[in-house]
Amino acid sequence: MDTVYILASTLGGGLTHAVEVHRQLRELELELLPGGALLHNGVYVVGKGTNSVVFRCKPRVGNLQLACKIRRGDSTRPSLALEGQYLHLANTVGVGPRLYTYSKDVLAYRFINGVDIATWWKSATPEKRRSLVQDLLTQAFLLDEIGLSHNELARLRDHVLVEEDKPIIMDFESASLGKSHNVTQVANGLSHLGLKPPLEALRRYKAAPCKDSFTEVLLGFLSQL
Ligand SMILES: Nc1ncnc2c1ncn2[C@@H]1O[C@H](COP(=O)(O)OP(=O)(O)OP(=O)(O)O)[C@@H](O)[C@H]1O
Ligand SMILES: [Mg+2]
Repeated sequence: MDTVYILASTLGGGLTHAVEVHRQLRELELELLPGGALLHNGVYVVGKGTNSVVFRCKPRVGNLQLACKIRRGDSTRPSLALEGQYLHLANTVGVGPRLYTYSKDVLAYRFINGVDIATWWKSATPEKRRSLVQDLLTQAFLLDEIGLSHNELARLRDHVLVEEDKPIIMDFESASLGKSHNVTQVANGLSHLGLKPPLEALRRYKAAPCKDSFTEVLLGFLSQL
């Protein structure tokens, strides 16, 4: 299928938007690939949100497996560039899928071969759950330390993919810089998986976020696993 045709039938916004996105993909030397688990308007894609459609893609040279998040024609956001910058910042502390490149309407980053955290959790052993919780809270703490707030982590199911038992925080579209609450949000999210947030420790962390108060929060969770 022709790329402009694929874009026009999946992104909305008519032919003008499809042609513009096609131009950006050419400029970035990226190729869309068919495939994904979701059938959207006759095309298999990786995922679909209110503001974007996610496709598999690759650079023209080499065979890196990438995902391309492409802005929908009817999106309320004028650009994906800020999301690209937030993801880049998260990558500096090893968080998020590795960013490859971005433009106004295209964000290319590593394709994650994973499952959502709630599905993974159901069949995971206690040891695996324990190490995932430790890893996820530590990533949240690293984001807090650089003042990058993801802002949607309380809904862990929609924003964490697990690949080879490792949690990967996805979708920095609502992120912001400044006071950040990632540990608190992840703690809330973990309650939906059946864990009890250690409230006292969380209060202390909120009042004085530092390594020591974080360790208390961490132990509060790990002692349940
Ligand atoms: N790099 C990737 N690898 C694998 N799957 C991905 C990747 N990026 C996104 N997805 C999947 O595509 C879907 C949509 O991605 P994302 O949540 O970033 O889009 P969105 O437009 O921000 O969605 P929403 O409007 O719901 O926030 C999600 O289910 C996500 O799991
Ligand atoms: Mg989103």
